[in-house]
Parts: sequence; C-alpha cells; structure tokens
Amino acid sequence: MNTKILFAPTSDVETELLAVFAVDTAPKGAPKPEVRLLAGDDAVANAARTVLDGGEFKAELCEPLLLHSPSGLKARRLLIVGLGKAAKLTPHEVRKGAGAAVRFAKPRGLREVAIAVPVAEALDPKLTVRALAEGAVIGDFDSDTYRSDRKDRSVQSVQVLVPPAADQGAAEAALREGVIVGESQNFARALVNEPGNRLTPTVLGQRAAEMCREFGIQCEVYGTDKLRELKMGAFLSVTQGSDEPPALIVMTYEPQGAPAGPVLGLVGKGITFDTGGISIKPSDNMEKMKYDMAGGAAMIGAMRAIAQLQPPVKVIGIVCAAENMPSGKAQKPGDVQIAMPAPGKPGKAIEIINTDAEGRLVLADGITYAKQLGATHLIDAATLTAAVAIALGQLNAGIFANDDDSYQRFTDGLKVSGERFWRLPLDDDYRDVIKSSIADIKNTGGRYGGAINAAMFLKEFAEETPWLHLDIAATAWNDDAKPWMASGPTGIAVRSVIEWIRRFAG
Ligand code: BES
Ligand code: MN
Ligand code: ZN
Repeated sequence: MNTKILFAPTSDVETELLAVFAVDTAPKGAPKPEVRLLAGDDAVANAARTVLDGGEFKAELCEPLLLHSPSGLKARRLLIVGLGKAAKLTPHEVRKGAGAAVRFAKPRGLREVAIAVPVAEALDPKLTVRALAEGAVIGDFDSDTYRSDRKDRSVQSVQVLVPPAADQGAAEAALREGVIVGESQNFARALVNEPGNRLTPTVLGQRAAEMCREFGIQCEVYGTDKLRELKMGAFLSVTQGSDEPPALIVMTYEPQGAPAGPVLGLVGKGITFDTGGISIKPSDNMEKMKYDMAGGAAMIGAMRAIAQLQPPVKVIGIVCAAENMPSGKAQKPGDVQIAMPAPGKPGKAIEIINTDAEGRLVLADGITYAKQLGATHLIDAATLTAAVAIALGQLNAGIFANDDDSYQRFTDGLKVSGERFWRLPLDDDYRDVIKSSIADIKNTGGRYGGAINAAMFLKEFAEETPWLHLDIAATAWNDDAKPWMASGPTGIAVRSVIEWIRRFAG
C-alpha cells in the first residue's frame, strides 16, 4: 500500500472513494443522535446534508454510509464513517475508523481511497494522523494468503488529507511513523498466519534474517549446536521430539552513540507448532496452534519498526523457535531438565509435569541468554496459557511485572498504542505452586491461576532484572473479523512493545 499526504481542500480531491469521519454530539440520554462531520469543507457538508438530515445514520463506531456522485465534490464516492460519541473520541477511534474505510473499499474492488484527517478539540493532530495511517495499513491485511480466488484485493493507494493550515512537517513525520508501525504489525501478522509446514523454526529464522538485512540491523540464527554450547537444557528439551531443528534468533539494534545503558531485551516465544508433545492436545482446534509463535513474531515486528524509527537505545531481540512434537525422542512427563546456567550459578533443575507447558521452558533459557548478552530490562511476549483467556477474556492481554517503573513506562505507551493489557499479580507466595520434590521447580502449577503459575515460573529466570511478561494467548488471534481488522492474526503487542522501547530512549 502506497500512502501519501495531501494538503488540499477535501472537495478538490479526485478519488474513487473519499472517506470522512463523523461523530454523535448529542448529550447523554438524548433521544436522537446529532451527527457532526469532523472533516472537509462546506462542499462536503452540503453533499452530505440531505442524507444526514434523514436521520438513519447514527455515527456509531465504524458505521459506514456511502454516497455515489456526491454533488459539488470531485470524488466519485463519499463514505462517511462513524466514530461514535463525540465525548469519547480519541485517536484510537480514528485508527479503527480508518481501518473500516479501507476494509469497506477492499471487497468492492476500489483500489484508491482518500481519507480526510478528522479535526476536533479532543484529537491531538500528530497522534491522529499517526493512528489514521496505522489503521489504514492494518485494515488492508487479510489472512487469505493461499486462496487463489481472492488475490490482490489490496487498496493500492491511500491519500491522507490534511487541512493546509496544519503543521505540515509534523503531519509528514506522523504519517511516516504510522506507516512504519502499521507495516511492522502486518509483518508480524503475516508470519503468524503461516501454517506450521511452511513456517518451521528454520524458515522463521530466515524471515527474521531477511528483515534484519533489509533494515540494516544485525541478526544471528543459531541451531542445536549453539543451544548445547550454551547449555540451554530447557529449550533443548522442547526441541528434542521434533525432526525440525530449532532456531535461536538474535537480532541486535545498536544505534551509533547510544548510551551504554539501558539495554532492552525482548524475548519471544516462537513455537511454530504446538501439539502439546507427549501430553498431547485434543485434536479439536489443534490447527490453531500454528499461532504459538505470535510472541516471537511480535518481537520481530517490533525490531523491524525500531530499525526504522531509530530511537537512541540499544535493543536485543531474541526469539526461541521450535516445534513441540511427540515422538520416540520427545521428552516425557517426569523428566528432569537443567536450564541454562546464569553466570556463577548452576542451571535450575526443572521437573517436567506436562510437556504442553513448553513455552515457559524455551523462554526460561531465552531470558537467561538475554541477560547474558547484557540486557538490563526485559520484556517477553508469549501465547503462554489458555488460562489467561479464562481470567481476562479476549479483550485484554495479561501483563505481569516484577518492576513498577518498567510497568509504568509500558502503561504510558498504551495511551499511544491503544492496545489493552491488564496487570495480574506475581506475589512471592504464589511460588509454592511450582515447588518440586525432585528438582528446583516444576513446569506446571495446577488447576487454578494458570496464567500466574506460568509467570511465576518465568520470574525464577528473570530474577533481579526488571522484567515484563505479556501473555497474549487469548488476544493474538481473532476468530471473527472486526470492521477495522480481518479475522486471523492480530499482531497484538507489536505497537505496545515499540512504545515501551521509545520510553527508554533519551
Ligand atoms: N500454546 C499453549 C497455550 C495456548 C492455548 C495458546 C490456547 C493459545 C490458545 C501453551 O503451550 C499450553 O499448552 N499451555 C498449557 C499449559 C498447561 C499444560 C499448564 C495450557 O494453557 O493449557
Ligand atoms: Mn503447549
Ligand atoms: Zn504453546
């Protein structure tokens, strides 16, 4: 998708589809909505007047209204997109509205869209342009990669219409940022969408390496030998049941003149398919376990954006990629594995209770390795537990933190990313549930609080280093399409990880 900014009066723009936004300004409890357009000149208002006066259009969030040959405008079609109640308007509604405009155009074969940036007191101009660009790019993604009947429906050009009086330099910069972030989120979604046979750990490593080459950052992809050398007994135990070799992906962004610290360590779970191993999963819905690398893909997507946005802070991205398979070589419940040792200490002994709790095993060694590479602040993302869906539903992802300052930076970033995360507890008393009699810890903690138990396991490896854990199991895949986003991979965490990183820069 090609995006450009245009500083011109809305009514002069020649386009297949001109999208403008509207809100409902009626006070709470009013019997009827009062629709107000948020962009365009008098000509746009005149073109829309009759239909808006008709009263059917309520300006609900993402509600579309299409007019053909609008009088007085050069556009062939005028699309009015609702953004909901004026009193609740933020750039997050604009992100969704722009996505809805693009998704309106796609199935109708319209290849170009002009979207007028809404102007309202509640909308910061820069954040609004950025969110609009993100929404348009994100809206263009569909998960139909291998459908021969639905090829090439992408919107090829999006013109972002900014009032000529605006700060043009700031608007250009905001557009560029939004496009980078949106494309990086789509990059992650495309990886997540790939099936397990096409995206093995090796292929994931190749994709990451290609991306790093394209954007000029370092990348190393290691195999089994390196895992042995590093004594990554927890990670190796997951890989041993599969014929596919693992990949330990290490991406490094080190801008010139970056301070020696902080060094941010991103760690992603990259299970390219999770059968459960010997503790095999039921076959219902097992096909969805191709998305068990969504945390790893999010970190690769975040690195892709960071390489272009160039914040002055060093970032290391690690993805632990493997397939979790049952076989004659697979690990068994009851096995004891020794995790990667931290400097000067023996590796922690782990009793495997359930081979389906594999994510925490690969992440344990990834976290230790990130610290060894010099990370001072850690964040991991993983489709770690079904239990997080029970706790929070599919709206909020889970976040755990052993450090309030780092958590605060993350929540500050959510105001810009618009993603939703809810903090869950990590009190030391929860540790009892992962005690083992034969080893230091065990890899499951029983029926209750499953998302917390998994986080407590990871906390053992983060130790004193400030660390955030994102459990995105319930939010990385949408079963149903939204007006602004296709069904399938969501790319959750990409935007928020980027914002977290930026809050350590400068
Ligand atoms: N990848 C799964 C978690 C998952 C489940 C992600 C559903 C997305 C949708 C993870 O490896 C897993 O199997 N977790 C187990 C842990 C249990 C054995 C303690 C779970 O959540 O059931
Ligand atoms: Mn599993
Ligand atoms: Zn898994």
